[in-house]
Amino acid sequence: MYTYQKQNLYYAQVLPGIEEELTRELSWLGAEVIKTEFGILTFTTDKAGLYRINLRSRLATRILAPLISFRCPDADKLYRATRTMEWRDFLRPTGSFAIVANVSETEAFNNSHFAALKLKDAICDYFRARTGVRPDVDKKAPDVIFHLHIRKGRASISVDTSGGSLHRRGYRTQGVEAPMQETLAAAILSMTEWDLETPLVDPMCGSGTILSEAHMFACGIPAGYLRKHFGLSRLPNFNKKLWEAERQKATRRIQPPEEGLIMGSDICKNTVASAWENMSNLPGGDQVPIIAKDFRKLEIQEESLIVCNPPYGIRLGREEDMKQFYKEFGDFLKNECKGSTAFIYFGNRELIGSLGLKAEWKRPLMNGGLDGRLCKYNLY
Ligand SMILES: C[S@@+](CC[C@H](N)C(=O)[O-])C[C@H]1O[C@@H](n2cnc3c(N)ncnc32)[C@H](O)[C@@H]1O
Repeated sequence: MYTYQKQNLYYAQVLPGIEEELTRELSWLGAEVIKTEFGILTFTTDKAGLYRINLRSRLATRILAPLISFRCPDADKLYRATRTMEWRDFLRPTGSFAIVANVSETEAFNNSHFAALKLKDAICDYFRARTGVRPDVDKKAPDVIFHLHIRKGRASISVDTSGGSLHRRGYRTQGVEAPMQETLAAAILSMTEWDLETPLVDPMCGSGTILSEAHMFACGIPAGYLRKHFGLSRLPNFNKKLWEAERQKATRRIQPPEEGLIMGSDICKNTVASAWENMSNLPGGDQVPIIAKDFRKLEIQEESLIVCNPPYGIRLGREEDMKQFYKEFGDFLKNECKGSTAFIYFGNRELIGSLGLKAEWKRPLMNGGLDGRLCKYNLY
């Protein structure tokens, strides 16, 4: 029996800064979080809980199921300990796999790539000895993803029950420059404590990530609704009936969108077309109005919830005077959005001051490697 089977134990990976929100979400989905460390939440749940979390968590990046852990002073031990594992429990000899390795504070391994190669050799040699064929390594769309973690001379191996990052919801078929990560947009929405009655507006919606996440949340569309593949289907004792039951329970809650609840706009016509296409991949998403307009010309309904991430120069790389842009956006919020609340995500925190508004709070949040800040403004 593997560790996750013996102890009903799993690891949830999460973006730094949203551990608290994920703890709440996991409890709500029926799990018990027992430890939070280095962006990993260790939790327990039963099989139905594992399926539910993979289908419905909006905040987790991936859910790992631990298989074994052992003392691993060097590469030879890593090979010997893993060569004898029952890899057929997860993989067909003609299937494909990928390894994500992470090594720290272990002298014998000076890089993660070397550790990953050793594990790959062990897996391939295991299959070759038993079947004469070996599975392929496929980094793009493998059947199974194994995680190898070596720290202070101790190795642990897990299998990715999500089958790749859960931020890939499947609705973003049209990309634009500098999109926000889906799990980050979901986390920001959870920080807004949206009551699902106040109209939500994203006046610089880009590819529509915030709008899509808001729409999924408001209509009860599970985060994994469009995902085709989940790694958990490769686990030994995968229960198809239970999986289908959890899927049905999750989709039974879907409701049509409420008119006027969510609105989006962007200055760029092509971007608006992409946002609309992305939204249209979701049930009822084509009913959310998205228009091409400069924010300076928008009329915002009183007492709205404004959520957006304006351009921040680093990625968009335009010659525009960002400080002036932010000043004008601040003036717009102050003068045209009275009575509303705004949550603005700054990819470049040096621009916060240019908005000219006093934030009620600021929270550090990473987006694709950028050390950004989410600021809350009450617009009296
Ligand atoms: C960082 S991107 C937003 C990304 C978006 N959250 C997503 O996930 O795709 C900023 C957006 O602001 C838009 N924008 C720039 N100037 C604008 C203006 N004056 N009025 C409205 N939108 C503007 C850009 O076209 C761009 O799509």
